[in-house]
Amino acid sequence: MIKILFYDTKEYDKELFEKYNKQYNYEIKYLETKLNSETAPLAKGYDAVCIFVNDVADKETLEILKDCGVKLVVLRCAGFNNVDIQNLPDNMSVVRVPGYSPYAVAEHAVALLLSIDRKIYKSYQRTKKYNFTLNGLLGFDIHGKTVGVIGTGKIGKAFINIMKGFGTEILAYDIYPDEKLAQDVGFKYVDLDELYEKSDIISLHCPLTKDNQNMINKEAMNKMKKGVVIINTSRGKLINTDELIEELSKEKIGGLGLDVFDEEEDFFLNDMSNSYYRNADLSVLLSMPNVVITSHQAFFTREALEQIGKISMENIKTFFETGTCENIVK
Ligand code: NAI
Repeated sequence: MIKILFYDTKEYDKELFEKYNKQYNYEIKYLETKLNSETAPLAKGYDAVCIFVNDVADKETLEILKDCGVKLVVLRCAGFNNVDIQNLPDNMSVVRVPGYSPYAVAEHAVALLLSIDRKIYKSYQRTKKYNFTLNGLLGFDIHGKTVGVIGTGKIGKAFINIMKGFGTEILAYDIYPDEKLAQDVGFKYVDLDELYEKSDIISLHCPLTKDNQNMINKEAMNKMKKGVVIINTSRGKLINTDELIEELSKEKIGGLGLDVFDEEEDFFLNDMSNSYYRNADLSVLLSMPNVVITSHQAFFTREALEQIGKISMENIKTFFETGTCENIVK
């Protein structure tokens, strides 16, 4: 029987995977702790480990997992920036769920944008207290604005399709532009400088790689329009947080929607409300007006979870039956 150790599991993960495991009968143990070099030895005797976005599978951790007998790292997510693929030990593979629901993430990016633009977070708190004034709630029409989309893969494409419905002009950047897509959907690929200069709203939908870490830095933000709204549902490390805070405080950035944060590991997905442990940058961002932060929840829809459960379990089955799988990370 295939033995799988799950790291960083929440109640909803257990419910989901227990439901799917009725078909597969794997021997599963669920841990709340995250994977890192200290917790990797717990995987001794397991065939696979199943991890999420904030588990750390660096070189050292992967070597320990290998010594424990682990042959497969199962990512129950799309992004794989937290696994050191370059230093993957021999006879170990990594599988992921590449496209469980691009709509879930794209729709959440739009939710962040609308919340920031129309100040829904403020009006919700006001009306709850029977305060029905409009001061400070002035927004702007999204219709007619220029939206810059960085990364036009599955999520970027879903986001573009929604934003076209608002009547916006889309400028996109991708290291592998899909000109046919641009023609069919009606948008234009431009270089990053032009995207920064012309966009009223910028949304990030590219993976985090070694080359694009901190791509949204002071230099990039200097090229942007004053009052630009930035949305990041991709990965926190795409943005240089210190420089972002500086530009926010200069009111260069008019609104910020984050579902990810560069040091989210200790905070996101956890209830830290009764803890004194704080992250200084996160606290500053949370204290700022027109900044809305959600806790890596863009993926969190019923439809997406079902796909994650189904595809992860099938990835494991296919890998152990055939030694390979279409969702292997190369
Ligand atoms: P995808 O692989 O379908 O598309 C990514 C696109 O980005 C590709 O077209 C690729 O050519 C492009 N790209 C790669 N490097 C780039 C760069 N340096 N600059 C510009 N474009 C670049 O991936 P998908 O499914 O659209 O996901 C995108 C990202 O969204 C994931 O890598 C992940 O980080 C994030 N994500 C966030 C979730 C959340 O809950 N907040 C959930 C799922 C994904």
